Amino acid sequence: MTKRILITREIPKLGLTMLQERGFEVDVCPGETGDASLSQDELISYLTKNQYDGIVSLLTDKIDAKLMEAAPSVKIVANYAAGFNNIDLVETKKRGIVATNTPGVSSIAVAEHAMALMLALTTRIVEADLFTKKGKYQGWSPMAFIGTDLSGKTLGLIGVGSIGIEVARIAAQGFAMKILYYDVVPNEKIEKDYSAQRVATVEELLPQADIVSLHVPLLDSTHHLINAARLKMMKKSAFFINTSRGPVVDEKALVTALKERLIAGAALDVFEFEPELAPGLATLDNVILTPHIASARDHARNEMARIAAQNIIDFFDGNKPQNQVNL
Ligand code: GLV
Repeated sequence: MTKRILITREIPKLGLTMLQERGFEVDVCPGETGDASLSQDELISYLTKNQYDGIVSLLTDKIDAKLMEAAPSVKIVANYAAGFNNIDLVETKKRGIVATNTPGVSSIAVAEHAMALMLALTTRIVEADLFTKKGKYQGWSPMAFIGTDLSGKTLGLIGVGSIGIEVARIAAQGFAMKILYYDVVPNEKIEKDYSAQRVATVEELLPQADIVSLHVPLLDSTHHLINAARLKMMKKSAFFINTSRGPVVDEKALVTALKERLIAGAALDVFEFEPELAPGLATLDNVILTPHIASARDHARNEMARIAAQNIIDFFDGNKPQNQVNL
């Protein structure tokens, strides 16, 4: 019988085409509110109106017991994301639902975005652009927009999975930065290739780094990993970058730290209560914000669509999908 798949929002065509060419009947949820993701109620209403065999979900879709209850025919949830903290894995296992992700293919995109945020902070490019566009440029000034070089600075990486490794590569090889890292697992490759030094604790890393960049998944153990006490341990001149998941940072504490100039600045692509921003965050002059777009590059997004579709195809072909995350 023809299998029915729900893609919860438009993704690059490649994913849809692959599924259709393999004979799946595919529905794509239209967004009712422009580019916003569907609410869980909207999604549940799709799932109860139609019997789907599989879902291609987004990182914004909460795939929990309530949703699974409403979709008893669903056998696979293929997340269109590297992260999968939006899926209740225990619940999927209980119900025999396979969950997959799209690892690796967005690592370079996210790493380059982290570097772009770093450069935006150190070169003050966002402020300078606004200043120039507002017609304030009256002629060259020896004291205007003085930033700082990355070269020779210490980058503190928290988490060196596939994204953290790419950041280490670009920072060490492209910008001659010194790399310190904290990870529960030692990474011999970055120690050998990029002279990275591992520290035993986050507390040891924070006071030494000129820039701290987060690259950990959101887990119970990483929730609020960066909190008020740890922000105080950073250098006053340091910058903080987050392209991982918002709740890894206590965003309210970060606003306070930025306001009180406990650190020099921050650049964030992810937010604790996305798409809401912590009160006061958007009006700070020492923060740069992007709307969770670190993986929004043509190559990464096409590959994410291809892998999500392939996971569905493999599953219904009776094979184990390559990227199952709830083994
Ligand atoms: C993006 O945030 C992803 O997890 O792929």
